[in-house]
Amino acid sequence: MMRYLVTGGAGFIGSNFIRYLFDKYGDGVEVVNVDKLTYAGNLDNLKDISDRPNYRFIKGDICNAKLVDSAMAGVNRVVNFAAESHVDRSIGAPDDFIKTDIYGAFVLLEAARRFGVERFVQISTDEVYGSILRGSFRETDILEPSSPYSASKAGADRLAYSYFKTYDLPVIVTRCSNNYGPYQYPEKLIPLFVTHAIENKSLPIYGDGKNVRDWIYVLDHCDAIDFLLTQGQIGQVYNIGGGNERTNLEITDYILRALGKPENLKTFIADRPGHDRRYSVDTEKIRSLGWQPRYSFEKAMRETVDWYVNNEWWWKKLKTGEYREFYKKNYKRDF
Ligand code: NAD
Ligand code: DAU
Repeated sequence: MMRYLVTGGAGFIGSNFIRYLFDKYGDGVEVVNVDKLTYAGNLDNLKDISDRPNYRFIKGDICNAKLVDSAMAGVNRVVNFAAESHVDRSIGAPDDFIKTDIYGAFVLLEAARRFGVERFVQISTDEVYGSILRGSFRETDILEPSSPYSASKAGADRLAYSYFKTYDLPVIVTRCSNNYGPYQYPEKLIPLFVTHAIENKSLPIYGDGKNVRDWIYVLDHCDAIDFLLTQGQIGQVYNIGGGNERTNLEITDYILRALGKPENLKTFIADRPGHDRRYSVDTEKIRSLGWQPRYSFEKAMRETVDWYVNNEWWWKKLKTGEYREFYKKNYKRDF
């Protein structure tokens, strides 16, 4: 029986990963989910799972060593998704990024070492490399993170590696590109623009809209993590990418077309400070082990847009009340 500790499992990718595990392994896995339930943590993401006898939720902070110890007892595999994850928020208020993304990872690594877990996957990000105008980053390239978010992720990424080198902890580090799919908090580009467009609100495009991201469907990311848990080599870093590079303008046009909304919803606004122009990762290393993404961008994007159209119950309440006030106060625009 594989026993997982998934941290940040009430967030976007973590909740998709837990659902992926149950869909694939059924009663053959046990999952403990530790999540602090910050603004981004949402138990609605796991509504269909919460009653399973092989699932346990613990509300708690990964910076709390006592709580982490009690959650890690009996666990074979740890997958650390817990993080403050939004670049714009890290520009306004970096504190929690340093605490959770770096110190929280440290607390988990320490506990994993003491408990002798069999695999520790640190979910890092392609943002740790910084921007690249031509070509793609390989795992051996230097890290030049641009934002307090990506710098704190880079800290945790290298800290995890140090636990492999120094203490032989069986660590794997993944650096994935931009995810999209259901249950993504509607402050990120795709769910923000889809839900805004549904509501006929203008779509705030930073700068000239020509920044490039490589989009991967969230279930492909989950599949790659599951693959690396058995096929990945400990102490190694693996890039994960969808191979779908698009400018933000292309993404915006796709969304407007898919929803039949007018071009004039597009609004160009001041650029994000330190905005990385392009992300691109070379995924040869994981592909050479036999993994590749399964979902086509066109089909998975269409299904993602449809999911937000059909699940207003999920996102409407996230764009009202205190959330909306926070957004208006800090971003000076509508949410
Ligand atoms: P998210 O913001 O949707 O979810 C983060 C989750 O972590 C939330 O449920 C939140 O409540 C929880 N959390 C935050 N602080 C915590 C703490 N101190 N203790 C316990 N739980 C805490 O983020 P996401 O988009 O699902 O990203 C998940 C992970 O994947 C992050 O580590 C992120 O850096 C990484 N990542 C994300 C992407 C992407 O495109 N979204 C791409 C590559 C890597
Ligand atoms: O690359 C992986 C990273 O992708 C993850 O590590 C992060 O957790 C995740 O948030 C994401 O970071 P980005 O900054 O790329 O994602 P975001 O959705 O915030 O923005 C995507 C692009 O869209 C970026 O170029 C900024 C632009 N953008 C974003 C928002 C929210 C806009 O033009 N307007 C917006 O309102």
